[in-house]
Amino acid sequence: MLNNNIDSDNWNAHLYDSKHSFVSKFGEDLIELLAPKKGEYILDLGCGTGDLAYKLNKLGVNVIGIDKSENMVDQAKKKYPHIKFEVQDALNLDYHCEFDAVFSNATLHWVKPPKQALICIYKALKQDGRFVAEFGGKGNVKIITDEILNQFEKLGIEFKAELFPWYFPSIGEYSTLMEEVGFRVIFAQHFDRLTPLDGDHGIRNWIQMFGNSMFEGLTEETKDFIITKVENNLKGVLFQNGGWFADYKRIRVIGIKE
Ligand code: BEZ
Repeated sequence: MLNNNIDSDNWNAHLYDSKHSFVSKFGEDLIELLAPKKGEYILDLGCGTGDLAYKLNKLGVNVIGIDKSENMVDQAKKKYPHIKFEVQDALNLDYHCEFDAVFSNATLHWVKPPKQALICIYKALKQDGRFVAEFGGKGNVKIITDEILNQFEKLGIEFKAELFPWYFPSIGEYSTLMEEVGFRVIFAQHFDRLTPLDGDHGIRNWIQMFGNSMFEGLTEETKDFIITKVENNLKGVLFQNGGWFADYKRIRVIGIKE
């Protein structure tokens, strides 16, 4: 989980581990798509608190986990001291033809401009190396963000587009960027994944953990008022069978460095 464009480290690694562990759970079947082989060198880009890097390590992979968040990397090092983790920015990687694969789960929607990250990833790979990624695709969490924006409008608050923290491309858009950088795109998929959120305040916690930058410049009171409205208005849509869900839409891609 590389951080968004906010300069300070906003990630609370403990909250992330306790309430948002689904992020790495869903990443487990991305490892199947990666099909790692024993002895390969693999970069886990946006490793968060290290759970998927640990899985790769157990499969005999030489894995390096990187994340922009120092809090996340510190926690990853504590949990898995035998694995190499580093604080690094996906927009500024300093690897050259070193990895058999670059793997990234639930991170690249935070990274803008996306092409700059793709250039760094391409450079980091050996010839014929693969880039395997999953992140938020076009329409991701649109029900939640549309309702937040609806509340801004009702309160007469102008929303500045640059405060929208994410990049959610279609597979057409992202495959085109990958090709421009030099990848041969051999796989691209866009699918819905209604994602359960932990606890009675699942949607509130999600917005506070991930969507904080949308509220920049507002008082805590206004923010709380808006989130309460969002909770109330979305209860009929995203609260099902006693629990909250987020309307995730993912993309998955595989590109080969040619
Ligand atoms: C996602 O994994 O799709 C996601 C997570 C946090 C914020 C936005 C999207």
